[in-house]
Amino acid sequence: MLDLKIINSNLKTNSIGKAILQFDEIDSTNNYLKNLKLNEAIDGLVVQSEFQTNGHGRFNRVWNSNKGENLLFSVLLKNNFSQSITLIPLLTSLAVANAIDIIANTNTECKWPNDVILNNKKICGILIENCKIDFDEFIIIGIGVNVNQIIFPDEIENKATSILKEIGKIVSRENLLSEILNFLELYLIKLQKSEAVNLIDEWKNKSTMFNKIISVNLFDQVLNGKAIEINQNGSLVFETLDGKRETLISGEVTLHSYYQR
Ligand code: BTN
Repeated sequence: MLDLKIINSNLKTNSIGKAILQFDEIDSTNNYLKNLKLNEAIDGLVVQSEFQTNGHGRFNRVWNSNKGENLLFSVLLKNNFSQSITLIPLLTSLAVANAIDIIANTNTECKWPNDVILNNKKICGILIENCKIDFDEFIIIGIGVNVNQIIFPDEIENKATSILKEIGKIVSRENLLSEILNFLELYLIKLQKSEAVNLIDEWKNKSTMFNKIISVNLFDQVLNGKAIEINQNGSLVFETLDGKRETLISGEVTLHSYYQR
């Protein structure tokens, strides 16, 4: 189990992580939050587990993670974001990327819409879901970071990595968790204060997908072309190889030097 005292001593937040529920094993931290009763649904509540029996990701993929080696957690937020909600994927990946860089002295990259990459491999996956508890609307930010796992299943071995694998040092999961929560709250406050433009610029500076040929998987088709811009709402402006511009709100980017989890 993570040491709550260490986490609390590093937290600088007002609401995120002020309440943390810890589990040894759970089906999925996202699912746990979806099933809360309204009187349990505290804004900023974090659920963290050492293992998930039904961890899942975007496109209904499974999220596998060895017990006790990584970070698996979800943050519950009251949905009072109106339109700016579409920027939450970007700001979450930026928060995780910056937190990893500070704790592990790395140079992570963000990949649209919300992956974090280190040395061309995926180190963090983010699953954002909306949910209603009674009549109140919430956002669940589910985050899986590969921290101290060395062995990965064969099918993702060449696409996934961990901090330990890349830097050769064990990293304190408590320090990393608090740093992620600190950044997350900071960015959410910026979003509320309409500082979205700065956040998008910061995200773009942490992304290497511009000015090169990439593929975007759109469920039913794959587009090849160039990433041109990130719009104010977080959508991706994309130019296909035959010069057509498309605005994408969802999808999965493959940079050709990258492996995709
Ligand atoms: C993805 O890359 O597709 C997203 C993966 C998200 C995994 C995290 S782990 C904690 C939380 N609980 C889940 O079941 N999923 C998210």
